Amino acid sequence: MKIFSDYYNNTVKLAFEEHPFSEKPKHVLVVTRIKGKWLLTKHKTRGMEFPGGKVESGETAEAAAIREVKEETGGTVRTLTYVGQYYVDGKADQIVKNLYLADVDDLEEQETYYETDGPVIMSELPKALQTDERFSFIMKDDVVTSALTYIRTNKL
Ligand code: GTP
Repeated sequence: MKIFSDYYNNTVKLAFEEHPFSEKPKHVLVVTRIKGKWLLTKHKTRGMEFPGGKVESGETAEAAAIREVKEETGGTVRTLTYVGQYYVDGKADQIVKNLYLADVDDLEEQETYYETDGPVIMSELPKALQTDERFSFIMKDDVVTSALTYIRTNKL
């Protein structure tokens, strides 16, 4: 398990194991690819981030991941792979998020992208994500960098 501090100095625990913190996590983050590039969304206030959000009541985490990718980017998930789970001790709130890898083939324009401005495709993520103001705080801790390393190492 990896333990580190996030952008807001909250403690984060991350593990690439089967649901180490909760069987029913209420949040998802989906590292998404499209044709060998990264597919992100531009959140209206937080900036660019991988798609994700809250699991709705009666919904599975997998279904939430697929729905959030569609809502925030217009992409239909072809394959969804569970990668790991993380816990954020957010002082007021403690949250558990499932981390997935998704592959999308094409984007379909949406009437609304909800709280985002829709899809952003990037060949590479900048090395200095932590200091890049265009990116959301959720991209700025070791969750994303560790997930990308895990995905590369395991050839996912
Ligand atoms: P809304 O109801 O959508 O406004 O959500 P919220 O602002 O209450 O946040 P949410 O319930 O999604 O998360 C609660 C807190 O957990 C946030 O304020 C963050 O501090 C933290 N948090 C949520 N998601 C992440 C994440 O992916 N990474 C990190 N490091 N912290 C997160």
